[in-house]
Amino acid sequence: MSDNIQPHSLYHQAREFIQTCYVELGYTSAQIEARLQHIRAEINQHGTYEHTTEELIHGAKMAWRNSNRCIGRLFWDRLQVRDARHLTDSNDIFQQLLHHITDATNNGRIIPTITIFRPERPGEEPLLIKNHQLIRYAGYESPDGYVGDPASVAFTKQCLQLGWQGDLTDYDILPLVIKQGSHPPEWIPLPRSKVMEIPLEHPDWAAFADLGLRWYATPIISDMLLEIGGIRYTAAPFNGWYMGTEIGARNLADKERYNKLPLVAKLMGLDTTSESTLWRDRALVELNYAVLHSYKAAGASIVDHHTAAHQFGLFEQHEQRAERELTGDWSWLIPPVSPATTPIFHKSYNNEIKSPNFYYRDASLS
Ligand code: ARG
Repeated sequence: MSDNIQPHSLYHQAREFIQTCYVELGYTSAQIEARLQHIRAEINQHGTYEHTTEELIHGAKMAWRNSNRCIGRLFWDRLQVRDARHLTDSNDIFQQLLHHITDATNNGRIIPTITIFRPERPGEEPLLIKNHQLIRYAGYESPDGYVGDPASVAFTKQCLQLGWQGDLTDYDILPLVIKQGSHPPEWIPLPRSKVMEIPLEHPDWAAFADLGLRWYATPIISDMLLEIGGIRYTAAPFNGWYMGTEIGARNLADKERYNKLPLVAKLMGLDTTSESTLWRDRALVELNYAVLHSYKAAGASIVDHHTAAHQFGLFEQHEQRAERELTGDWSWLIPPVSPATTPIFHKSYNNEIKSPNFYYRDASLS
């Protein structure tokens, strides 16, 4: 079987994947050879091959396990994989996305979930989800600053062009937008009733609630490409639960996002006339405390960065025991708050990209 295989050919990639995947699943070498022969014939005939359900499920889990930037990988084997490869009708695809949101959110007890739609195939036009995340807030540029999430401005413009109308609040929920091949993009509104949101409050400052800050429960990345054994799934939205700092130290805190630290500092009565009062740092900690507190109070899954870093340490141990080399991207793994208090900060990681994995889509897929 090893004769004349082009190093980067589809068959070569399939073989790499099947060998690893099937050994992990406990198949014999005879079974692996049989499967590879079948795949080889399929590729010769159709220029592609189809994953079995088992390959799809384990391949998606491996892609999470190989996601160097993710601190939450301890739970890779618990990924809920939804096979939606058979869907071609846009309405069915939208329904499936809505089901993903509801089932994964699970009334707050978030279930790490991926929905995998049909992959790229020769001669077929790909399916793309245009949203960065299935749930995200719109952003508008106005003469006196931004309304909503500045990170969403470009996509929000596209949605408005498609005929969607926003309410121009700081927390308008963007519609779901998909594109099938060269057809024009299609969209449906995402009703607020389908989205679990958490109003932020602080256990010590009642006035914090009056700031009107909020965020959604479930981060569902929808613009990445999942590659398994050389097959490219161009639409495969996936989610875990939030680590508090993603919201409290980035989405709501970054100057180019919601930029709320000055507001929180004011509420706390901090002296903001000099950087050396550390008002930013103090406001940051309280904002992050409010995020964790509010999600817990609302019954929405969330993890603090110390616990997440500890869980990552367990993942490192598990991988070692399984005799797999751990890969990671240090600059993403360290949390944005108090990084040096976590063990991750004091280590280094090999940032090699292993397959299966998730990738940013290239410009050819837009
Ligand atoms: N950082 C992104 C956000 O704040 C979400 C990325 C995925 N995060 C996760 N916990 N699975 O919306």
